[in-house]
Amino acid sequence: MVDLKTQYARLKHKIDPAMASVIDSCEFIKGPALKEFENNLAQYLGVKHVIGVANGTDALQIAIMALGLQQGDEVLVPSFTYVATAEVIGLLGLVPVLVDVDLETFNIDVDFARQSITPKTKAIVPVHLYGQCAPMQEIMQLAAEHNLFVIEDNAQGIGGSYLFNDGRKVKTGTLGDISCTSFFPSKNLGCFGDGGAMMTNNDDLAQKIRMIANHGQPEKYIHSVLGVNSRLDTLQAVILNVKLEELDDFVTRRQAVALRYDKDLGGINGIYIADTASYSTHAYHQYTIRITNGSRDELQAYLKSKSIPSMIYYPIPLYKQQAFSAYHSGNEHTNTELLCKEVISLPIHTEMTEDTQSYIIQSLKSFFN
Ligand SMILES: Cc1ncc(COP(=O)(O)O)c(C=O)c1O
Repeated sequence: MVDLKTQYARLKHKIDPAMASVIDSCEFIKGPALKEFENNLAQYLGVKHVIGVANGTDALQIAIMALGLQQGDEVLVPSFTYVATAEVIGLLGLVPVLVDVDLETFNIDVDFARQSITPKTKAIVPVHLYGQCAPMQEIMQLAAEHNLFVIEDNAQGIGGSYLFNDGRKVKTGTLGDISCTSFFPSKNLGCFGDGGAMMTNNDDLAQKIRMIANHGQPEKYIHSVLGVNSRLDTLQAVILNVKLEELDDFVTRRQAVALRYDKDLGGINGIYIADTASYSTHAYHQYTIRITNGSRDELQAYLKSKSIPSMIYYPIPLYKQQAFSAYHSGNEHTNTELLCKEVISLPIHTEMTEDTQSYIIQSLKSFFN
């Protein structure tokens, strides 16, 4: 699905010396390069605070803790997303209220979210699934009307921009009260292991996040609240510092691959390609189409026989997962059900060659002919 080896070979001349400098310094934990990366990412995104953490899941968990959400509070979250988004809510004793998604954007359905609000609802977690922005303007409006916190899950959206009705254009990952991202190696901005970050424009929240991520310590050996140990390693920070310089180019490369897929697969009967939302750019963490003639699983087997990887993100609605059975209202979500049966993600990455993509496209065409 991705070609990390070729990308590394292309950036090796910058990454290797950067890593060697950390190893030479032995400042593995909270070395100066971490602060440098946090500052660089804050500048890139246009946000006041960036706090590196150990992974994207921790970022979501710490966000809930920092916002002071309590056991029993309800949090709106899409039923069609990666498990981490909803998992941390249940883990902390809150209630993930699963919300259906929109068929075009694959993102949380705002009307469904509105109808799911109760007096216990305290937050909403939009996810920019596949790199397509959730409708943040509407979500923020809904949140303002009902006094909800917005925790923006930008793990798949980094590098994208959101366009407000008044013409303002801002980077995703700056829109929530707290925004969270993952630097998992295959992400648009990926490190060489696990990593994540949290973004906020709120000084108090930034301070709380730093404290919670560091065992609840405002200062050494003073523990004001129960916290966790969640740090972005200095080694990962220097790799990310190199890759951050490339992020816009990475996204442009992904968009070019997507554009060609759109053009060459667009007319095929049985394939549905959703339009990109008009209110944002698409960071194309994934290139995901719908197979509308019931042959998705056969297509995947066919692609496999041609040595073409593909993935189903995600095959099972969260409310049908055993771990979430307690949160199943009993009602199936029509769109989530359909997407779980129809979506398939094709290889998309920064190193895609024209020949490789031609082979993938030809193989898809021959399957549908
Ligand atoms: C939408 C979404 N949220 C959260 C996460 C969790 O990130 P991590 O794997 O770094 O914990 C991921 C990553 O896989 C993701 O895709």
